[in-house]
Amino acid sequence: MPNVKLHQNGQIIQQEVGPNSNLVVLAGIKKFPHLKYGCGMGKCTRCTVKVLSGGESLPEPNWKEQKMLGDKLSQGYRLACQLYIQDDIELCQE
Ligand code: FES
Repeated sequence: MPNVKLHQNGQIIQQEVGPNSNLVVLAGIKKFPHLKYGCGMGKCTRCTVKVLSGGESLPEPNWKEQKMLGDKLSQGYRLACQLYIQDDIELCQE
């Protein structure tokens, strides 16, 4: 089971999630309640997270992430709503 470590407002939230989990979907059903998100469709950027470690297990950014994040992609930012978590990952969301 992938372990998700989320840094947020000086706190670290750590939780196991099922394989191939989408954190925004989990947040929507109150199973990952700390995550901030909005549209769930790659349009608002409220779910933006910075990947601190484990990013190598993520797929390449899709066109929505490329359109909405632009240069921030190269700084490690991703849209959580577009990600399916396969492996341990450490994220930061401010
Ligand atoms: S929740 Fe709106 S872009 Fe991810």
